[in-house]
Amino acid sequence: MQKILVIGAGHGAGQLLDSLRRAGCEDSLTLVGEESWLPYQRPPLSKKFLSGEMSQERLAFRPEDFYTRHQIDTRLSCRAVALDRDAARVELCTGELLPYDRLAIATGARVRKLAVPGATLDGVHYLRGIDDARRLREDWIDKQEVCVIGGGFIGLEVAASARALGKNVTVVEAMDRLMARAVSPDLSEFFLATHTARGVRVLLNAGVEELLGTEQRVDAVRLTDGREIAAEVVLVGIGVLPNQELAARAGLACDNGILVNEFTQTSDDRIVALGDCTNHPNALLGRRLRLESVHNAVEQARTAAANLMGQKLAYNQPPWFWSDQFEYKLQMVGLSEGFDQVVMRGEPETGKFSLFCFHGDQLLAVESVNSPGDHMVGRKLLAACRYPTHQQAADRDFVLKNLL
Ligand code: APR
Repeated sequence: MQKILVIGAGHGAGQLLDSLRRAGCEDSLTLVGEESWLPYQRPPLSKKFLSGEMSQERLAFRPEDFYTRHQIDTRLSCRAVALDRDAARVELCTGELLPYDRLAIATGARVRKLAVPGATLDGVHYLRGIDDARRLREDWIDKQEVCVIGGGFIGLEVAASARALGKNVTVVEAMDRLMARAVSPDLSEFFLATHTARGVRVLLNAGVEELLGTEQRVDAVRLTDGREIAAEVVLVGIGVLPNQELAARAGLACDNGILVNEFTQTSDDRIVALGDCTNHPNALLGRRLRLESVHNAVEQARTAAANLMGQKLAYNQPPWFWSDQFEYKLQMVGLSEGFDQVVMRGEPETGKFSLFCFHGDQLLAVESVNSPGDHMVGRKLLAACRYPTHQQAADRDFVLKNLL
């Protein structure tokens, strides 16, 4: 029996443990997590958990007894501080040394902090974990003016949740469009119109100069052009950074994430890494990338489990993501970059449509709004490298799955 040690207790780690036991792994399994919670789903934190429609129990990836039934030793509220690859052991913040035969690093990502004066005032929040969401939920109960800094996924989901609770919301975005990192300009436009129509004030090309406060509590956001936005609560959602330092200090190759191959192997063959903290190759895309998504965490976990069980299961899938804002479910597959034409399927006025992003004849991404059928077929088309023509993509009477 060998010792498998898993560092990080997010969604990917939970999936890894589940996949290992399901595959009949009888090795000793230990999970080390910095947060005080067993693995849970993060996506609802900015949506239904924040608006109070979903309980904390329902966030759990697996019920608590899953870990006891499967003899998984869990060390929560416990940070791994050092990795000694020569001695094959990990040091915890308590000073304890945990030896391993195989190590899985699933340390995820952390929020990027806003670096302006006033950023540490009370009432300034970030959103990554359950504790963050609980603090925000409690803090804004009796507040009305919410300023969201960052018009990406987290910022817009929180803006929608805050509007649903009747708050006044201003979104301050540095770029000239929303979600610019991940979606096409046409989709940014649709969500700008949606948020505006629902009463969110969206400021684009806006820089934050300073957060102003009274008695250590924020009350306004001053922009670089001098404007001041009233803010009883500020939510900062300006991206995340991979937690790669533990690996990097131990000499594992890192470059915008821990470098792994298609089998989740790091530069040390006893160590795998998975999820948001990794930078991995994708043969379909023909390049390396770092992804921040549940799909990526789950699939890399499955691949890592196979690897730890001595099998080679390459991870090569088109990436997919989703976001819920107001009554719209946005689902994306592929990467919306490098395209030269966008083909509309359906009509935005109906609230149901998909955007097919092409480079020449090659389909690169499908962005769907309230159109799960298009999304599912898009996943299959991209995985199989079967591309509709522009006309077929635009024609709602053309059955896309017939191409498969
Ligand atoms: N002021 C205003 N906006 C800023 C600033 C700034 N100083 N810095 C960055 N931004 C904007 C970016 O232009 C971008 O639109 O913040 C947004 C960040 O968006 P994302 O990169 O999508 O990051 P975030 O919304 O924080 O989400 C982090 O959590 O749920 C996941 O999928 C999500 O991976 C994402 C992660």
